[in-house]
Amino acid sequence: MVGSIVVLLAWLGCLSLGTVRGQRGDLDIGTELDDIRAKLQGLKDLEARLNHTEKELEGQKAKVDRLEKENKEITLRLNTTEDEVEKLRNSGTKKGPQVAFSASLSNFGEIYKGPCSDTTLVFKRVFSNIGNGYDQHTGFFKAPVEGLYYFTFSTFGYNTHLIGAVLVKGGVRVVSTYDHVSTDSSDGGSNAVVLELKADEKVSVELWQNARVFDNMNGHTTFSGFLLYPLGDRK
Ligand SMILES: *[C@@H]1O[C@H](CO)[C@@H](O)[C@H](O)[C@H]1NC(C)=O
Ligand SMILES: *[C@@H]1O[C@H](CO)[C@@H](O)[C@H](O)[C@H]1NC(C)=O
Repeated sequence: MVGSIVVLLAWLGCLSLGTVRGQRGDLDIGTELDDIRAKLQGLKDLEARLNHTEKELEGQKAKVDRLEKENKEITLRLNTTEDEVEKLRNSGTKKGPQVAFSASLSNFGEIYKGPCSDTTLVFKRVFSNIGNGYDQHTGFFKAPVEGLYYFTFSTFGYNTHLIGAVLVKGGVRVVSTYDHVSTDSSDGGSNAVVLELKADEKVSVELWQNARVFDNMNGHTTFSGFLLYPLGDRK
């Protein structure tokens, strides 16, 4: 740009010399000078526009740089979020041990249990036994894994005898149902408990001394339990 201007100025100088020598008419030279001044002005305008365009371009470049930086940051956050989602998805689908059982006393006709004999209630009609923790031949539930378990049981019977049983963990009584001999014809009771069990620890339902319970295919006297969650990992 500056080079062009220098050339133009040099040319202008030659023209001025020409004027001094008087080789051209004043009118001609005046017109040519005007013409050159106009061209010079045009050139200056062009430079100004070029400067303006350059400035705009710099602004645009800064904008693009900023956007690129932002884009990178957002991509990084997106990648992190995707990783987190993947981790959550995996933890959601990972299956832990599954333990659940439910049974009622009678699997055929009407039965009475007790008093005095058969104090461990053996629930014969098994509705479910995921993980095979419950043994329908002994009436004992044996924990397949260490964990926190929920148990519930219900007893039903007639008024001629005491009605009631107790949930026993490893030989220790935990929670019970109990109903005295009374004038109403029948009574039912239920209870529930959440217990920590080590692997292979046993839980059963035992009749109270002199108690008697009844059941038929309506499932009045029942025992159920399930694993809430394993505890082995927390050590
Ligand atoms: C164009 O920019 C140059 C360098 O920044 C400066 O020297 C010149 O005066 C500017 N020209 C115009 C017409 O603004
Ligand atoms: C985001 O993840 C993609 C695909 O795994 C990878 O190509 C890109 O480099 C990562 N970007 C950042 C900013 O971590």
